[in-house]
Amino acid sequence: MKNKSLVSINDYTKEEQLRILELAKEFEKQPVQTILQDHVIASLFFEPSTRTRLSFESAVNRLGGKVVGFSEASNTSVKKGESLRDTILTIANYSDLIVMRNPIEGSARFASEISSVPIINAGDGANQHPTQTLLDLYSILKTQGTLDNLEVAMVGDLKYGRTIHSLVIALCNFNTTFHLVSPVELKLPSSVKMHIKEKQLAYHQYTDMEEVIPKADLLYMTRIQRERFSDPLEYERIKNAYNLHRDMIGQTKENFRVLHPLPRVSEININVDDSPKAYYFEQALNGVFVRQALIASILGLK
Ligand code: CP
Repeated sequence: MKNKSLVSINDYTKEEQLRILELAKEFEKQPVQTILQDHVIASLFFEPSTRTRLSFESAVNRLGGKVVGFSEASNTSVKKGESLRDTILTIANYSDLIVMRNPIEGSARFASEISSVPIINAGDGANQHPTQTLLDLYSILKTQGTLDNLEVAMVGDLKYGRTIHSLVIALCNFNTTFHLVSPVELKLPSSVKMHIKEKQLAYHQYTDMEEVIPKADLLYMTRIQRERFSDPLEYERIKNAYNLHRDMIGQTKENFRVLHPLPRVSEININVDDSPKAYYFEQALNGVFVRQALIASILGLK
């Protein structure tokens, strides 16, 4: 994986993804190491983030590296009209690796094609969020003891949810049965469903969440994303489509867990948080170890 950009989850083979998860286990045991001394990581966030940006920066800091970058482009020369091309060509000269979130779909692929250093896609619009997927896989492996043959329910914005798109594609390698729950307006796009069909895996579509919960090993909740709607009235109409309460997860499988990439709005009531079946804050913590593993692999340090 040395020098290999990660733009779409399929840029890494199943074996490469599993190698990252193995390495993440090592970093979880020993998160503070000094292998990144003399390395500079650029963290370019053109779109808001809490977990992805700060877990990447925490990962670098715990490995003894340095971070340069920005959390909003309005403080950079982008504000003066500088292009993404010129921004990437410049920052590639200042860093060994670039982590970038950008609202434009395809921007990370474009950056990877012109950059002299590897690019990690930290989310490009509604397209993909592959590092979230690696930490989701790690979380699934930790909670289920396997990635194979699971019944996975995905709920919420399946149309614009980049975490969903990358995770569905990754789970197609593990004989997953998909239970896809969304308002009719936010169904999984056919370009992503195509991956399920190619592998001839089972998938079922629903608008109601309650009927899938007893069948599921995992309930992967997502936010209805206000920022992806061009019509604010449509957002207002469906924003409260799902609201998971603690009494809805009483009768579930033993290993059942609720995952969420976060941030949440109203789709999981806070009364779920202290249930042993809630795993979303541990999931966010796992992001540090997985991102340590990814950075170390790309820089050829592990
Ligand atoms: N899961 C995730 O991408 O969260 P942030 O938007 O806070 O980075």
